[in-house]
Amino acid sequence: MATLTNASRVCLRGMTKQTALASVPVRALATSASLQDSAAPSAYGYQATFKGQSKGAQIPNFGNYMSDKAPATNKLFSYFMVGGLGAISAAGAKSTVEEFLKNMSASADVLAMAKVEVDLNAIPEGKNVIIKWRGKPVFIRHRTESEIAEANKVNIASLRDPENDADRVKKPEWLVMLGVCTHLGCVPIGEAGDYGGWFCPCHGSHYDISGRIRKGPAPLNLEIPEYEFPEDGKLVIG
Ligand code: FES
Repeated sequence: MATLTNASRVCLRGMTKQTALASVPVRALATSASLQDSAAPSAYGYQATFKGQSKGAQIPNFGNYMSDKAPATNKLFSYFMVGGLGAISAAGAKSTVEEFLKNMSASADVLAMAKVEVDLNAIPEGKNVIIKWRGKPVFIRHRTESEIAEANKVNIASLRDPENDADRVKKPEWLVMLGVCTHLGCVPIGEAGDYGGWFCPCHGSHYDISGRIRKGPAPLNLEIPEYEFPEDGKLVIG
């Protein structure tokens, strides 16, 4: 009896499996039928292929929002919009950069300070004048013939910062230099020191009549600023 019972159980299980397998094509057929049904026109452009879907799961039809014009016309409109917005953005960026540069550039009073004009007729031969330029002192020396000769007879090889006098002046009689000691930035005293030029009392640097360092701790000659003689008797520094 037990053997019969087991055999009947096995038969029943086998039947159940066969029934389940047989139901697959049935379900597939049902799905196909649903697809065919969904092809019927409705308020939505697309019907979900699954049964029992709620209205919210259905995808709306966007066809009403699509352009009915030719694709070339649509592209033209897109290009126009992109180009137009690009041009407006570029104009805005240009304006912003211009305003920024305008604000950052030097004001009129600062530009006025950038150059200094000096009347050389007011400086007699053999005299020094000190003017202020960009917050620094500038020495202007109206040199005599003997001072020019003395500056030229120096052996360049013996100098710490070798420089010809001719390379430091545009007109031999006018020596124009920054009045800032190249050691630590003190202002040297004119017509002083062992070489008849300038002497820095801070640590004892001696400069000659060409402003070249001759003795003391300063490493370099006095610096020559940008300058020019726009006309006779006039000097513009800067
Ligand atoms: S700052 Fe002129 S010698 Fe030191």
